[in-house]
This record gives sequence, structure tokens and C-alpha cells, in this order.
Amino acid sequence: MNPLTSLDPGSANAQAIVRLWVIAGGIFAFIFLSVAGLIVYSLMKFRWREGEPDLEQVPGNKTVEIVWTAIPFCIVMVLFALTVKTMGVSDPPPAPNPDIVVIGHQWWWEARYPRSGVIVANEIHIPTGTPLSIQLDSADVLHEFWVARLTRKMTTVPGHPNHIWLEADEPGVYLGSCSEFCGTEHAWMRFIVVAQKPADFDAWQKAQLRPSVSPTDAAALRGGQLFTQLSCVSCHNIGGTAAHARVGPDLTHLAGRAQLCAGLMDNTPENLKSWLRNPRAVKPGVEMPNFEFTEDQVNDLTAYLETLK
Ligand code: CUA
Repeated sequence: MNPLTSLDPGSANAQAIVRLWVIAGGIFAFIFLSVAGLIVYSLMKFRWREGEPDLEQVPGNKTVEIVWTAIPFCIVMVLFALTVKTMGVSDPPPAPNPDIVVIGHQWWWEARYPRSGVIVANEIHIPTGTPLSIQLDSADVLHEFWVARLTRKMTTVPGHPNHIWLEADEPGVYLGSCSEFCGTEHAWMRFIVVAQKPADFDAWQKAQLRPSVSPTDAAALRGGQLFTQLSCVSCHNIGGTAAHARVGPDLTHLAGRAQLCAGLMDNTPENLKSWLRNPRAVKPGVEMPNFEFTEDQVNDLTAYLETLK
């Protein structure tokens, strides 16, 4: 099934929304078919025929008016009650402190885990079976956080934190996307939610907290030096080095991620090289400029970045 479908829910939260959709859809289908069926039946049965007198007109009938007001009123009340019940499950009030703060950027996602201090980009790990309170912020324009199989959509607004609950019943990788047009690369503002058993999640979190280790390989050493000499450090953070900026994605554990450029490509050395040669050829409109690195510099930088597990 399409990984961006809401119809294959992976949490109680998303399940409640699908259930409401099915019930409401059933009621609407029933109304549509009844009304359309009666119209077609009447058109056939009572159509004008040569020589027949016009049908008698019936002005005002209190009983009929009460009935056709009462039925829609009851239907709307039932839908209202079901909606309130669903909102109780899928949209409870936020926790006093968020478990994860997710920040939308043009065009990537940053996730901060306030309790542990972990900061990652485009790959959000969560423990299974635990509802997580997510605070949604934006660094620039309106974006919309959407993990179709796990929860509803929510807009990220600069200076106005929004909230959502995120939970996965089963371990797995769930695709997420930005679902509000936010500029040139809106379509490549994807991310993945990696749901892990709590013990695996704890291990992941510990590993993310470790700073990077200085490389031993000659090419990687040269790459590391280039990284600090050039202006990479003005935008990126790499734990354990002099790079502490938070403009672009955190690269401390870049090599451990599955994807590059917010879901645009798999994280392979070849793709990383094509990105370094000219980021704007790979992802037009992106903030990172073309540094016109030489092929040797591209190779050294890639060797270095590949050590950041
Ligand atoms: Cu961010 Cu669309």
C-alpha cells in the first residue's frame, strides 16, 4: 500500500480517524444513494405523459416539514458526537513538556529531543507503544508535518508552536512529508519516522549523544580539515569538533542516516559526492551554495563525512 496513505493506520490515534471516516462516509453514501435513487424513481414513475392532467400540488404539510428537519438534525448530532469522541482519542491536549520539538526549515526537518539533548535531521526515531507529545515550530515559512499512517496533519507556524501526538504500535519505518506548499523544494521535504522497540530506541539515543571521533584515514583527515577551514562550520554542527552552527542539518551522525536531502536520495557515498559537487543541481533552490570544490576536495570531504556514523 502507498506509504503516504492514511487508510492503513499504525496507531490508535490514526485508527480513530479512519474509523470516523468510514462511518461518516457510510452515512453520506447512504444519503446520496437514497436521494439519488428516489429522484430517479420519481423521474421514471411520475414523468409527464400525453393527455394526463398535472399532478395535484400540496402546499404546506407540518408533519413532512417536522420529519425532514428532524432527520438531518439527528444525523448531524450523531456526526458531532462521533467527531468529539474521535478528537478525544486523536487530539488530546498537549503534555506540559514536549517529548520532541520538530522544526520545519526550507526544506528539511529538524527534531530536538529536549530530555536527552539529541538533535537530528529528517530521521525521527521514536519508541513503539508510547504516545509522544510533539511541539511543532517553523524556522521560516508555513510547513505542514504529516506522517500519514501515524497521525493527523498539523501546520508549523513561525513563532506559534503547534502540537500533535505521535505514536506507532509496531516497529517500522513510516514515511512523512510536508503537506503545505512552502517553496521550490516543497516536494522534497520528506522525512522518515523510525519506530523502534524501547530498548533499541534507548540505544539509538545513546549513540546519537556520542560526539564524532577524529578520523584516522588520510583522506578523511584532509576532509575534516577542509570542513573547518571552509565555511561549512558557519551552517552545520558536528559534535566533538569546532562546528557548532544550527542553520543547516546537524551532521554529527550523518553517515548513520538512511537518506540524504530530506528524502531525495539514498545515503550513499556517490550521492553525497553529487550533492557536494553542486547542491543546487541536485536540489534547485536549496540554501547551500555551490562551493565549486575540486574533485579531490569532494573525495576528501566525502571520506570525512562517511566517518560520521
Ligand atoms: Cu515545507 Cu512544504
